[in-house]
Amino acid sequence: MESRAGEILITRMTEHDLLEVVEIEEGSGLSRWGWAAYYAELQGVNRDLMLIARVASAPIIEHQRIAGYIVARESAGELHINNVAVRDQYRRRGVGSALLTRIVEAARRLKVQVAFLEVRSGNLAAQALYEKIGFKAIARRPDYYSDPREDAVVMSLTLGEP
Ligand SMILES: CC(C)(COP(=O)(O)OP(=O)(O)OC[C@H]1O[C@@H](n2cnc3c(N)ncnc32)[C@H](O)[C@@H]1OP(=O)(O)O)[C@@H](O)C(=O)NCCC(=O)NCCS
Repeated sequence: MESRAGEILITRMTEHDLLEVVEIEEGSGLSRWGWAAYYAELQGVNRDLMLIARVASAPIIEHQRIAGYIVARESAGELHINNVAVRDQYRRRGVGSALLTRIVEAARRLKVQVAFLEVRSGNLAAQALYEKIGFKAIARRPDYYSDPREDAVVMSLTLGEP
């Protein structure tokens, strides 16, 4: 897939990626999972739904850096997207879209029928990204988040017929 800045390479996450993944998580204002939770997730049945992105044309010194990642779970025909984040300096280059598109493709291969996610009501950047992929807001969960307290918007994307 071509980004505006070059080629976006998406691969499965491995335990070697976790220090960077946690660094990106900490810089992104996401609810904290931390190293141990990602490591445990990598040992589980959803490890194929943990992806990282690199931007191939990044300057040589940054070439190996992970630009962003996504973590999802599949259960009973539903995909739940838990975390998606892109390093500040790689945003607005299509990395988030590429990660979401790839996870949706993986879900289709697993015969998943519907994908869900929750997003902070004030996180308009993420909501715009999800809408671009085709997600629609279906519900609001009052005070779902803490630190700071905020509503969640629940969004869903139908992938296939039962
Ligand atoms: C949300 C996030 C993952 C988007 O990643 P990204 O790589 O910048 O996204 P893309 O470049 O693929 O953007 C795709 C579209 O999303 C929308 N979008 C992305 N960032 C936006 C912003 N800051 N403001 C408005 N719209 C935005 C735009 O429609 C954009 O398309 P365009 O660039 O052609 O206008 C990134 O901003 C991020 O890591 N945020 C912090 C973590 C976070 O909030 N994660 C989601 C938690 S639910």
